[in-house]
Amino acid sequence: MDIRILENVEEIGAAAGRIICDFVNEKPACVLGFATGASPVPTYNYMIEQFNEGKVSFKDVTTFNLDEYCGLPEGHKNSYKTFMFENLFSKVDIDPAKVNFLDGNADEAEESRRYAEAIKAKGGVDIQILGIGRNGHIAFNEPSDEFTDEAWKVTLSQSTIDANSIYFDDTEMPTSAMTMGIGSIMRSKKIILIATGSSKAEAVKAMIQGEVTPQCPASILQKHDDTVILLDKAAASLI
Ligand code: PGA
Repeated sequence: MDIRILENVEEIGAAAGRIICDFVNEKPACVLGFATGASPVPTYNYMIEQFNEGKVSFKDVTTFNLDEYCGLPEGHKNSYKTFMFENLFSKVDIDPAKVNFLDGNADEAEESRRYAEAIKAKGGVDIQILGIGRNGHIAFNEPSDEFTDEAWKVTLSQSTIDANSIYFDDTEMPTSAMTMGIGSIMRSKKIILIATGSSKAEAVKAMIQGEVTPQCPASILQKHDDTVILLDKAAASLI
């Protein structure tokens, strides 16, 4: 793990954004894996800035998002698809035909197979962006007794519901989601994990210094050979 402790979220966003934009300039038809939540937003802002300055184009990039809630109708304001269009896709030249999401309302087994095949057909994910949950989850892979492989339907933990329900004002937060599995995340060629704030400090310590266990899903990243971990001082305070 290449662990970097930076000053603030803007520096973290610029560091992750630079890795992505440099890579896209080298390989314009690459495959990027995106995450939702607060952690990647400064990265997306950096990418938008670079695009606006004419320094990068995403028009040939294919994207796969990590997860999607179950039970929300297409186009719902709290869906992760909406999040990605609002925070990145509508602000750069990404081709909407090249973006991929899990369908939280599809049959679990068929959807898992469809997503795995779509990723494989594109040659795999080149760079995957990740956040980390307060409980050590990556994507929506919650602490459990085993590491999963391909996409699956997960029941969200109370910790995740507590953390994410702030985004649901007039809608009840779903209690399940479709998520890329740990195996599919680990097959990404490069991973960039972003964690900021003291609420992530315990999970960050367990991810980096704890044993590799599905009770802290992010700990599996110790076994990935090209993972960059970008932290602020608060998230790094226990390591
Ligand atoms: P956050 O979520 O970026 O909103 O903190 C991260 C996660 O739960 O994986």
